[in-house]
Amino acid sequence: MTATDERSHPAFEDEFQATIDADQRIEPRDWMPEAYRKTLIRQIAQHAHSEIIGMQPEGNWIGRAPSLRRKAILLAKVQDEAGHGMYLYAAAETLGVDREELTEKLIESKQKYSSIFNYPTLTYADVGVIGWLVDGAAICNQVPLCRCSYGPYARAMVRICKEESFHQRQGYELLLAMVNGTPAQKAMVQESVDRWWWPSLMMFGPADGDSPNTQQSMAWNIKRHTNDELRQRFVDMTVPQAEALGVTLPDPDLRWNDERQAHDFGEPDWSEFKAVISGAGPTNAQRIAHRRRAHESGAWVREAARVYADKQAAKKREVTA
Ligand SMILES: [Fe+2]
Ligand SMILES: [Fe+2]
Repeated sequence: MTATDERSHPAFEDEFQATIDADQRIEPRDWMPEAYRKTLIRQIAQHAHSEIIGMQPEGNWIGRAPSLRRKAILLAKVQDEAGHGMYLYAAAETLGVDREELTEKLIESKQKYSSIFNYPTLTYADVGVIGWLVDGAAICNQVPLCRCSYGPYARAMVRICKEESFHQRQGYELLLAMVNGTPAQKAMVQESVDRWWWPSLMMFGPADGDSPNTQQSMAWNIKRHTNDELRQRFVDMTVPQAEALGVTLPDPDLRWNDERQAHDFGEPDWSEFKAVISGAGPTNAQRIAHRRRAHESGAWVREAARVYADKQAAKKREVTA
């Protein structure tokens, strides 16, 4: 049976469920329910698009990095994100979709990507804050995905997570340098934290009560924790780091709760989240237009690769004829 086989059969379903129950991996050759396949395609495609679109906000600063060292670090980080997109498109292709088709869907706004990348990067401190908060939130989301029930996705995530740790560290190290710099640099960090804090909390998705797909994804071992559990983990991890940096997180309700042994915190503005996710964020149109331009200007590369592959195939046929 192949992944694209839509027939259902009790014996296949039993085998699938037994694999999930034993916490083992489903591989591309295994039978899987159509809804499982569709859920994974949607999630992996959204994830791949996020990596690719996510190159833009920071890519914006490569040409203006303040030193050769900062430029080399940022360049490496943005290139890593391109690589993450490629692994993930390859993982999605094992489910029977085509990368070309996924790219088309992205530039026609038929598939989503993380809302966080629809905010502009206004200062160099944003490079540090994105590494610290956005890659930090990505790590919380992605480490449990290394144990996702779908083998190719889980394996891609192992490597991605190693690189995300470097991203988080480089961001934090940049901020540490800035907060120990001039008062203007320290103020720049605080202003950036004020803008990115709430959008970072929104990266975990809607509150559990408003997240209809979570239960099914958890039953399938695609997701291991709910959105609210991951958000809590992120807040608890980040607060001491903010203290070490000497910056304030812009939430008057943020405080340690001794009873829960966790931080209480305020509610993100979900109407803003919904607006940004449905296309009305500050830079949605700009991000998609840029991606479309890049795709169109790369058409000749894809065409050349196709012609070359055809020629190689024809040569092979000549030899074997
Ligand atoms: Fe990434
Ligand atoms: Fe990253």
